[in-house]
Amino acid sequence: MKNNLLSSQADVQRVAESKDGICALDQAIKRGLLLSLVIGGGILGLSGCGPGGGGDTILVGEFASLTGKEATFGISSHEGTLLAIEELNAAGGVLGKKLELKTEDDQSKAGEPANVVNKLISKDGVVAILGEVASSRSLEAAPICQQNGIPMISPASTNPKVTETGDFIFRVCFIDPFQGTVMANFATNTLKAKKVAVFTDVKSDYSKGLAKFFKEGFTKTGGQIVSELDFNGGDKDFKAQLTAIKSAAPDAVFVPGYYTDVALICIQAKQLGLDVPLIGGDGWESDTLVKIGGGAVEGHYFSTHYSSDAGSPKVTAFVAAYKKRYNGKLPDAMAALGYDSAMFLADAIKRAGSTEGAKMRDALAATKEFDAVTGKIAINGQRDAVKSAVILQVKGGAFKFVETVAP
Ligand code: PHE
Repeated sequence: MKNNLLSSQADVQRVAESKDGICALDQAIKRGLLLSLVIGGGILGLSGCGPGGGGDTILVGEFASLTGKEATFGISSHEGTLLAIEELNAAGGVLGKKLELKTEDDQSKAGEPANVVNKLISKDGVVAILGEVASSRSLEAAPICQQNGIPMISPASTNPKVTETGDFIFRVCFIDPFQGTVMANFATNTLKAKKVAVFTDVKSDYSKGLAKFFKEGFTKTGGQIVSELDFNGGDKDFKAQLTAIKSAAPDAVFVPGYYTDVALICIQAKQLGLDVPLIGGDGWESDTLVKIGGGAVEGHYFSTHYSSDAGSPKVTAFVAAYKKRYNGKLPDAMAALGYDSAMFLADAIKRAGSTEGAKMRDALAATKEFDAVTGKIAINGQRDAVKSAVILQVKGGAFKFVETVAP
């Protein structure tokens, strides 16, 4: 009897990873041995039998905020990711197999990323995870991917802590020490600001980190932070803080928030006569910023990852393909980064010649030059992408390219 049982986790994993087309695990179950797989309190995912390991497809997991407060982040990154998967499959797939994307909605809610990523790994048996945009949600999922030896690639989370989780965690975007410095230099050099107020969302790791790096950078250029105030993402009334900010008479206000809050902040700042440039980071980027904010967001600036009017052949081809696929919609930075995350994974799988976690991890880590839509990427020793940022200005209801800043 013992010989027929898969009696240790190692056995199960070996079976699950076998790629010879004969699914030993499946046969074991058919022989009625399912009970033997109950290890450590849970039934292990049947990854070898499903598309995740064996079969003729490679199952890739994605978690995104498809609904809820930051829905445009998730929808955009998902659309970009899916476009990349479709293009890869049209070109024959990877390692002779088609890629299959399994997407879960985390509803922009704390607690959900852990749920859905656990499910993707242990129930669906995905070989890698793509996601998330928001740093707080990536930070929730990263330890789960790390513990399971499943590579995770965040398209857009810029907080440094995300990849510090461990050696299976990567990103295709720059990080906030760089983004904060970019905007600090912009405030000093272009806006000629001497005094800046900083207004931070204390519920968001992204916002707290970016505020800190901006302050450090701005102070280094000789600037002065004249007011530091907080809000909670989801708040509707920012008038008390904005009144206090106005009385500090800043030359500009740095608001490292997400687009819904930022739009309301811009509206209320305008109502209060706080008539200075508001500046921020990539979290501003959504056409919903303009839909909610209207005239109140005009003229303000933010840093982000790419501009759809950058003009490079790679960007032009991507914008055309995306518009064709999604009824003329213009891809924003999250769409481009979602696309890049999937292409980056596929490239590493090809180089690894395998979908084993450790082999993919090593190939991802060894990426010295990857030609992404959002620019050329080198993966550094921290598993972060070293690449340029762009600064955009809201003008005529659209985002206009101002400048590119190299690392
Ligand atoms: N960088 C943001 C974060 O880490 C997310 C984001 C990326 C938002 C790109 C918009 C565009 O939370």
